[in-house]
Amino acid sequence: ASTLGGAAAAKGRYFGAAVAAGHLGESPYAATLDTEFNAVTPENEMKWDAVERSRNSFTFGSADQIVGHAQGKGMKIRGHTLVWHSQLPGWVSGLNASDLRSAMNNHITKVMQHYQGKIYAWDVVNEAFQDGNSGARRSSPFQDKLGDGFIEEAFRTARAADPNAKLCYNDYNTDGQNAKSNAVYNMVKDFKARGVPIDCVGFQSHFNSQSPVPGDYQQNLQRFAALGVDVQITELDIEGSGSAQADNYRRVTQACLAVSRCTGITVWGIPDKYSWRASGTPLLFDDNYGKKPAYSAVLAAL
Ligand code: XIL
Repeated sequence: ASTLGGAAAAKGRYFGAAVAAGHLGESPYAATLDTEFNAVTPENEMKWDAVERSRNSFTFGSADQIVGHAQGKGMKIRGHTLVWHSQLPGWVSGLNASDLRSAMNNHITKVMQHYQGKIYAWDVVNEAFQDGNSGARRSSPFQDKLGDGFIEEAFRTARAADPNAKLCYNDYNTDGQNAKSNAVYNMVKDFKARGVPIDCVGFQSHFNSQSPVPGDYQQNLQRFAALGVDVQITELDIEGSGSAQADNYRRVTQACLAVSRCTGITVWGIPDKYSWRASGTPLLFDDNYGKKPAYSAVLAAL
C-alpha cells in the first residue's frame, strides 16, 4: 500500500495521528490526515478541562468535531483521556475524598456514554506512576485522596459505562524494561489475575536524546502482551532528523509488527510545526506537509 494507514491495515493494524480540532480547517492538514491515517486521537479535546470545566456540565463541541470527521472517513478513534493529574480543572482537586470519587465516576460515565459505540479504545487512566526507581504511584488528587484503588475503580466504572470500548492504561518512560514499567506490569498482572477489566496498555513513546528508543522495546511490548492485553504505541514522536530519525522510526514500527498483539501506532501530530515539543522536528511530515525520510522508513517497514 502507498499510505501509512493502508499499509498498516494490510498488516491488521491501524496507523493514527493526534489531531487538533483547530487545524481541521487547514486543507493540507485535513488532506494529509485523510490520505495517510486510519485512526485519530484528539490531542486535547477530550481531556477533563475541555469536556467538564465545571462540575457535571459537559461541553463536547471540539471533541465532537474530531469524532465526526474521523467517523466520516471510517477511522478508528482512541479516546484520550479520562483520569489524569494534568489538564484537570481546579474544582476537581478541591474536592474531598467522597466527592472526588463520585466526580471521577460521573466523569468517566458521562464522557464514555456520550461517545458510546464510537471509540475503539479509551485511555482510562494516564500517567499514574512516578518516574525513577521507586515504582511508586505519582502524587495526584486521585492517588492522594482515594489511594491505590482509584485505578481499579476507574476501570470498573469504565467497563460498565461502555462495555464495547477497549480499556487502556497509558504512560511514558515505560517503553523499555525499567522500574516504572515493572510497576505497571505488576499492576496489569494483578488486574488480570483478579478480573479487573483491562484490555490494553499504551506506550506513549516520546523519544529524544535523553530518552532514546530502548534496546528492549520489542521485548517490553511482548512481555505486556503475554499478560493477555493488547499493546499500542500511543503518542509516538522521535526528536532528530534525516537518516538517524528514520532509523529510529523504523525500529519502532518493526517492534510493533513483531508483536502480534501490538494493534496500532499513533504519532503525536502530523506536521512538525504542530508538535507539542517546543522545538525540533519529531514528526513524519515537515512544515509544508512534505514526507520526511522518517515517513519513508515507516512506510517501507509496514
Ligand atoms: C500534550 C498536548 O500535545 C499539548 O498540546 C498540551 O498542551 C499538553 O498535552 N502525554 C499525554 C498527552 O498523555 O496528553 C500530552 O499531550 C503529551 C504527553
